[in-house]
Amino acid sequence: MKHIWISLILIVLALLGIFYGFRQPQEMADEEEDLIVIGMSQVGAESDWRVANSESMKQVFSEENGYRLLFEEARQKQENQFSAIRRFIQQQVDYIVVMPITEIGWESVLQEAKEAGIPVIVADRKMDVEDPSLITAHVGADVYAEGRKAVIWMEETFKDQPQVNIIHIQGTLDSTAQIGRTQALENGLAANPNWNLLSRMQGDFTQAKTYEVMTEYLRSVDSLPVIDVVYCENDNEAFGAVEALESFGYRCGPGGVAVISFDATREALQYCRNGKIALEVECNPLLGPLVEEVIQILESGQELPKTNYVPKEEVFTPQDITDELLEQRPY
Ligand code: AHR
Repeated sequence: MKHIWISLILIVLALLGIFYGFRQPQEMADEEEDLIVIGMSQVGAESDWRVANSESMKQVFSEENGYRLLFEEARQKQENQFSAIRRFIQQQVDYIVVMPITEIGWESVLQEAKEAGIPVIVADRKMDVEDPSLITAHVGADVYAEGRKAVIWMEETFKDQPQVNIIHIQGTLDSTAQIGRTQALENGLAANPNWNLLSRMQGDFTQAKTYEVMTEYLRSVDSLPVIDVVYCENDNEAFGAVEALESFGYRCGPGGVAVISFDATREALQYCRNGKIALEVECNPLLGPLVEEVIQILESGQELPKTNYVPKEEVFTPQDITDELLEQRPY
């Protein structure tokens, strides 16, 4: 009888050992600390806006605030975002937050997250999926509306000019910010017969790529054209465009090229104040608090609207920019 009891105790101990042995030390620590675990997949660090966006997320999803953040940067590659999401599923995180590089191609990986019962919150850019149940919520700006603000400014500024020569630098193709801002310009071109698109190039939201494509273009033309507007789809593209234009002898500012940009980061506002950027349309990168709001609503079991646009985005021209504004700009 004594032997039977000892065997039973040994079996129970072995089972307990197997159970705890399979569990990750991290998982056990999280349980103890009672943190909400967030798996977050970021596009990369292609722009100043993106860096500010990552910073905002890290600030909000800190241990002091009750979270464990597993943060992965995808270096501008969708495959890297897929792998990160799959790792988060394996780690059984509580929520997955994705800032997607492009809109398409997400169905399979989102289906896997849904089957694992993990809510997916999409931030900044959107995902284009047929089944809306794959996404719990979207937090981000209305980028078409941003583009419209730029187009309205162009219509007003150049209304008496018989021909307006425009260069368009697009962001990462198939990303929401590119699609919306490009669509607004397309509609402006269709509605204003005096607008003449000289060239359209891909700047991939980076300064280096924009400098390269702009320089190539200016080298390739027989004679340097009159350029009235360079419509850049973000600030880093605007920096690259200004650099290239100036190296070919163009002047950016009143009476010269009007560079239009989106984001309104501190450095770009400085360019705008100096006149090198004629118009800044704000795109707010500080999405951390809004994503947290969504997670807190979900935690409390309340109903959630699927789309939460970022409220209040402004437009700046050189005369709007004061020392105070620059000092207080958080990014
Ligand atoms: O998706 C938002 C855009 O992506 C920002 O305008 C840009 O700077 C970033 O890289």
